[in-house]
Amino acid sequence: MKLGVKGRIAVVCASSRGLGRACAMELGRAGCTVVINGRDSPTLEQTAADIRQETGATVIPVIADVATREGQDALLAVEPHVDILVTNNGGPPFRDFRAVDREAMLAGVVNNMVAPIELVQRVIDGMVARRFGRIVNITSGSVKMPLAGLDLSSGARLGLTGFLAGVARSVAHANVTINFLLPGSFETRRLQSGLEREAEARGVDVETVRQEAAASIPARRIGTPAEFGAACAFLCSAQAGYITGQSLLIDGGAYPGVL
Ligand SMILES: NC(=O)c1ccc[n+]([C@@H]2O[C@H](COP(=O)([O-])OP(=O)(O)OC[C@H]3O[C@@H](n4cnc5c(N)ncnc54)[C@H](OP(=O)(O)O)[C@@H]3O)[C@@H](O)[C@H]2O)c1
Repeated sequence: MKLGVKGRIAVVCASSRGLGRACAMELGRAGCTVVINGRDSPTLEQTAADIRQETGATVIPVIADVATREGQDALLAVEPHVDILVTNNGGPPFRDFRAVDREAMLAGVVNNMVAPIELVQRVIDGMVARRFGRIVNITSGSVKMPLAGLDLSSGARLGLTGFLAGVARSVAHANVTINFLLPGSFETRRLQSGLEREAEARGVDVETVRQEAAASIPARRIGTPAEFGAACAFLCSAQAGYITGQSLLIDGGAYPGVL
């Protein structure tokens, strides 16, 4: 399926690894110029090389902390405008909510709510003026199905979803969409560290925990980042212009509700 975004400029935050990387890869495959980002230079450069090699896309790596003003300045400075924005960042550490102090709470809200909103504020008027824009926010399945220990993640991301819900309706007339992708369990570094943490706590091996996790999902497997990237690219496509303000769970059926 041709996605109709050849030549578009896509900024994919926190994309040197994992889900962000997969989104950047698919947008590159669709013919976008892709600005990718992370804080570790060798990883980011390697990912840029991989995306170039696999897709032939122009890839611009930007070392930056996406949660800071300077980092956002750096990300938005490399191209004259942004057609597609994928917001993403690391998630807060797993922690009992009693141990999340004020400083940690504010950091979580900045990382997973304020930073994406700031980026949206900075790109949206240009999108409206050019009559094309696609914004996809990577949040988490925990927005719909909270997980104790990831309370800060759920709260900050739900805040982001609510904040941008009205914004989405205010720009839809200009072919600018804002949607949310909610990952369940995907094979990434973050998932691996969660499995390792649980294995250590229970005194069992990581493979046992992985198999149990997969067995608990109706699809009986953990998702691949490529599946996630493909859904992101579709939401960024020309054809997806009538989809806005939506939260799309990609979780192999793990969420048990119907709405
Ligand atoms: N994987 C899952 O199953 C899953 C499920 C639910 C939610 N999520 C959420 O989805 C998001 C992506 O997760 P993932 O699994 O892809 O994680 P990951 O494999 O650990 O990758 C995270 C990426 O973000 C970059 N990054 C982290 N903090 C950054 C910052 N401040 N500025 C710029 N780049 C930053 C990392 O690079 P550097 O460290 O080099 O900066 C890396 O490229 C996270 O918010 C996570 O909580 C993931």
